[in-house]
Parts: sequence; structure tokens; C-alpha cells
Amino acid sequence: MNRRPLIAGNWKMHLTVAEAVRLAQAAAAASSACPDRDVMVAPAFTALAKVCEAVGDTPLQVAAQNVAWDKEGAYTGEISALMLADLGVRLAIVGHSERRQIFGENDAMINRRLLGALIGGLQPVFCVGETLEEREANRTFSVLEQQMRQGLQGVAKEEMRRLVLAYEPVWAIGTGKTATKEQAQEVHAFLRQFLAGAYEKNIADAVRILYGGSVKPENIDSLMAQPDIDGALVGGAALNAESFDRIIRFQ
Ligand code: PGA
Repeated sequence: MNRRPLIAGNWKMHLTVAEAVRLAQAAAAASSACPDRDVMVAPAFTALAKVCEAVGDTPLQVAAQNVAWDKEGAYTGEISALMLADLGVRLAIVGHSERRQIFGENDAMINRRLLGALIGGLQPVFCVGETLEEREANRTFSVLEQQMRQGLQGVAKEEMRRLVLAYEPVWAIGTGKTATKEQAQEVHAFLRQFLAGAYEKNIADAVRILYGGSVKPENIDSLMAQPDIDGALVGGAALNAESFDRIIRFQ
């Protein structure tokens, strides 16, 4: 099965609007130079409008870092899929471990956000991952299974094809400690098998599964060589134009 690779940058709570536009333009140039792969960036909400405007004619895809579940309403501090699509945003990260751990988002809430993204026409980038404590207690697969089962509740087969999955072990995020390619491949294969059971094999074969957690120019090539790793969700190394460029041009 030939899955189109996706290299995604998650800028988190960084960059002014002008800085975000400059970095997006660099990513757009790299994306245009590599037509066999997709490239996505997720700026902070404040920079989305200008970034969408600046890269509108390029293949670079723009994502939000989160999304509300309803179209509109009394939800102070939230942004809906409708509002994001209005700007030209095409994807939304859902269930990032920082949302889970720092802001207390649980599986049920993440499921609602994921459905909100789909209903609003956005492609969710659905993140799952275990903590160090869970890995050391041999609970990696049961934790992932629960995140998958609850996060994907109510997601129909046809919608599943639009979803991107991201495996991000919490212990590897921002720590400089990447999962080995074997550890990552093992989990990606497990997640694909889960999808084959919960949906069907051709859907499992079509869904792209990204690895995230301290992805850098030095480890991208060996991660991408794994059969079930279809891309990367990159934090720190996506904030530097040169290193993100190298990651986009993985071999
Ligand atoms: P990192 O972040 O690349 O800085 O580890 C990845 C992420 O949180 O998506």
C-alpha cells in the first residue's frame, strides 16, 4: 500500500504573526520542491489567518492546534471548525498530549473535538501516546487501545479515511529522547492492526500514521524507512526553517 507521506510541524505556543508567516513561506517552498509528499504546519490561532493568506497558492497545508466540537455557541476561549475552515485551514490536531496532560482533556472530550473537526470539514490529526510510567508498567498497548477506542467512537468508515493518526510517546516529546525506530514501528503496526479490526483492512492500509517525539534531521530518515511510519509530527525542530526543511526532504 502506497501511503503519501506527511511531514507536519506543530509550532505550539511560539512565534509572532510575522515570524510565523516567514517560517510558513520557507516550509511552502520546501513543499513545492517535494511534490511526492504532503507538508503541513500548525501555527498558533493568532497567526492562522495571515499564514493561510501567505501560502494560499502553494501546496503547504495549514492546520489548527485544536478545535471546538460545536459550530458556534457560548464556549469562551474556543474556536470552531467552521471558523477555521473560513480561513483556509484544512486540518486540526486533536488530542495532543499537552492538551491531555496540561489542560485535562480526556478521551471523551477529545472524541467530541474529533467529531467536531470531521463535521466541520477539517481533517483531524488524532494524537495518541503513552507516558513513561505507562510504558514501564507494560501498559503501552492497553493505554493506546483505550485512547483509540474512545477517541474514535462514532467515526464512520468513510470519515476514517480522512483522518490522520499520530503516535507520540509522551516521554519522547520535547525531551530529545526519540523512540527507537523499532519501538515506533512496533506501535505503528499495532495501531494499524487495531484499525483493521475496528474498521477494515483497506482502511487500516490507507490511514497515515505519523510518529512524533523529538523528530530531528538526524533521525527522520531511519524513522521514515519503517514500513508503518508514514510521516512525522515535529515540534521543536519545526521552529527552525533549516531543520524543518531537512526533515521535509527526508530520504
Ligand atoms: P517535539 O514535539 O518534536 O518537540 O518533541 C512533538 C510534538 O509535540 O508534536
